[in-house]
Amino acid sequence: MTDLILRAAGLDRSFGGIHAINDVTLEIPRGSLHAVIGPNGSGKTTLFNLITGHTRPDAGRVEFDGHDITGMSYAKVARKGLAKSYQITTVFPLLTVFENVRIAAQTATHSYVFWRPADGITSVVRHTEEVLERIGLAHERETVAGNLSHGDQRRLDLAIALATSPRLLLLDEPTAGMSPTETDATIELVRELNRDLTILMIEHKMDVILSIAERITVLHQGETLFEGDPEAVKAHPEVQEVYLTGSL
Ligand SMILES: Nc1ncnc2c1ncn2[C@@H]1O[C@H](COP(=O)(O)OP(=O)(O)OP(=O)(O)O)[C@@H](O)[C@H]1O
Ligand SMILES: [Mg+2]
Repeated sequence: MTDLILRAAGLDRSFGGIHAINDVTLEIPRGSLHAVIGPNGSGKTTLFNLITGHTRPDAGRVEFDGHDITGMSYAKVARKGLAKSYQITTVFPLLTVFENVRIAAQTATHSYVFWRPADGITSVVRHTEEVLERIGLAHERETVAGNLSHGDQRRLDLAIALATSPRLLLLDEPTAGMSPTETDATIELVRELNRDLTILMIEHKMDVILSIAERITVLHQGETLFEGDPEAVKAHPEVQEVYLTGSL
């Protein structure tokens, strides 16, 4: 049996008359890099929000690492080890890069471990430094977040998510608004993070997805149109029509 870190089954969610997610099932093996793609409004962000507890499903079930997390709040889900990096930047713009990451690290640590205050501060600082090093932001640690380039702000988003030591990382369009150079660097970073972290990502740029994902779920009008590896997605005629040719 495959070791699944996430299993979302039969998810359903409507907003008024819009059936944003219609009977979607998603199974993510531990260690994998899975992508969700689809045209604008196809339900990608809603699907993520159903998984992370930002939105309650009308029907269906979400299991994270063997636990039923359906309908749980994001705060609770995050404490269980699931982190999300947002499509919209959530950094504190007036705080430094270091402070932004330290706050995330501290919140996560304090929620499940009782440190002696002195140990706690030292270990949080060390963890923050490690995260900044890994994400490639160590040289910007004293920069006020609001003064970072757009690419580095998105990197900081990632650092904040990583600071909570997640076992599953959800990325909603990590390369949105990035230059080609920044996009390439982010792809490399995501690949590197995937060495010891399961990643589920939404991505708009088809070339990014085809070069990085092991498995791809294609959403169309709230339903799973297709799921397969990059080669199969490239070869699938309906996906071509709906997505690749841009006739959305
Ligand atoms: N809170 C909400 N209230 C009303 N309608 C919503 C809400 N959230 C999403 N929708 C609708 O649900 C559908 C799916 O939206 P969603 O944001 O999940 O799509 P998406 O695939 O992430 O799109 P994009 O590529 O633009 O990010 C859309 O028709 C959207 O207008
Ligand atoms: Mg979206």
